[in-house]
Amino acid sequence: MSEAAVTARNLRSTPVNIAPPPATSRPVVQISSTQARKKILFVTSELTGLVKTGGLADVSAALPSALLDRHDVRVLMPAYASIIDSGLPIRIVGNLGGLAGIPPCAIGRLDMDDGLIVYLLLCPELYQRPGNPYSDEHGRDWPDNPVRFARLGLAAAEIAAGTACIRWAPDLVHAHDWQAGLAPAYMHWRGLSTPSVFTIHNLAYQGTMDMGYRRALGIPVEACHHDRMEFYGKLSMLKAGIAYANHVTTVSPTYAQEITTAEFGCGLEGFLGWKAGQGLLSGILNGIDESWDPQTDTHLQHNFSANDWSGKAANKALARQRFGLPEHDGPLFAVVSRLAQQKGLDLTMAIADTLVQAGAQLAILGCGEPHIEDDVRALALLHPEQISVHIGFNEPDARLLFAGSDFLLMPSRYEPCGLSQMYAQRFGSLPVARRTGGLADSIEDGLTGFLFDQADPAHYRLAIERALATYRHPDLLEAMRRRAMSAGFFWRQATDPYDSLYQRLLGERQEAVAQP
Ligand code: ADP
Ligand code: GLC
Repeated sequence: MSEAAVTARNLRSTPVNIAPPPATSRPVVQISSTQARKKILFVTSELTGLVKTGGLADVSAALPSALLDRHDVRVLMPAYASIIDSGLPIRIVGNLGGLAGIPPCAIGRLDMDDGLIVYLLLCPELYQRPGNPYSDEHGRDWPDNPVRFARLGLAAAEIAAGTACIRWAPDLVHAHDWQAGLAPAYMHWRGLSTPSVFTIHNLAYQGTMDMGYRRALGIPVEACHHDRMEFYGKLSMLKAGIAYANHVTTVSPTYAQEITTAEFGCGLEGFLGWKAGQGLLSGILNGIDESWDPQTDTHLQHNFSANDWSGKAANKALARQRFGLPEHDGPLFAVVSRLAQQKGLDLTMAIADTLVQAGAQLAILGCGEPHIEDDVRALALLHPEQISVHIGFNEPDARLLFAGSDFLLMPSRYEPCGLSQMYAQRFGSLPVARRTGGLADSIEDGLTGFLFDQADPAHYRLAIERALATYRHPDLLEAMRRRAMSAGFFWRQATDPYDSLYQRLLGERQEAVAQP
């Protein structure tokens, strides 16, 4: 075992704020204390309803809401300009001190419609800017991102320590992705016994920075070690989360296994394999929230169900209209995606001729890397009757495409979980996807979608041909749609594993505190 793990164990056994139960009644006390409603702090950089660049925002909003009936879950995130400008009622409820180059700030509280409490870091010098949470209007990362997100991690540790003056301190902190990776680290460096969970939503984004940031962020020298947050001569916020959290999860069982291999591990496979060997890494498949119901979704002009397909057909006509594609009796394929290398858009461009020759149509909605945006635009110009692209993103169009398309393309090179294939299935659109990560865990090949193994055009084309063949057999298409629409992806099924993990970590802490 490394020195880091030994240190973490020692710190967890330090009695802080918890009186050990009497020896005779210990098992009873343990059960009642760990099964009661607990206070959980989610630390994240995005939240659907406030700010979103991808699936992290959906999970950050839906998972806490799904856990609310069991626990007092609250969310901590930065107050970006768009949130402040939205005019939502934010009350100032606390203050945080600074550390080294990290500025002090205030904490605001916002109560969401579903009862979720969100703590917002009010630090205009770090967050009051145009652009998205990570980059300016031209897509350039903010150069001070290390400070911006160290502020987030430090705030979580201060709230956990009870020094934020908000009259609420969590029993457990759940941090998400590199942006929150320093939360478990600052908690550890402050000697807190509050357990922490770190969830990797995407290993490829690591939040690395030069060693020069160490002093500015108040990072102790001993953290600059390959067993902790040092990564090829730099400091990695993602690795800090992995190193210092009591448990690491990722968003599907298959991805949890994949990231311990060189192909998917992004250089961290050894470290993650070691964690997995200790039982400190697990995969929990994401869910989707209950608003994804084609019968009731208010974003849709035409609601529908597996007992009445007329609404599905009307959505298809509307989607064609919306994307400027002519009426046609062939299949409609869709892409709803960030335009990033991960998502395999180059593979879709390589097989586009198969779709065109088969008389299919393709509607693409997304934005991201400028060169991919240019490539898909150029593709659409070549086939204006059959391929249409809208660069950008908005929720109603995304839902219209899930509802109106026959098939959704997700040839991802890797996919930690993927939510779009779940949304598509709920709305009767069958995914054609690579058998990787959460796609492998949430699509039944030949039953609810079409999977292929290798990330190359030849294998992808075979899966597309299977989809095209299915479209020619309406009974089979309908049977697959029915099965896909009834797949149980809801959070209410996915919350149990998180709850069990929280209970176990809280129980371990209780036990450690009770040890003499
Ligand atoms: P990822 O998080 O890797 O983008 P997921 O499939 O998990 O992939 O989640 C995608 C979510 O983000 C869906 O809700 C989808 O509608 C939405 N989405 C897709 N593209 C964009 C985009 N360019 N900007 C914001 N949200 C997007
Ligand atoms: C990341 C992953 C995606 C996952 C999402 C939510 O953005 O790329 O696969 O579904 O996080 O966990």
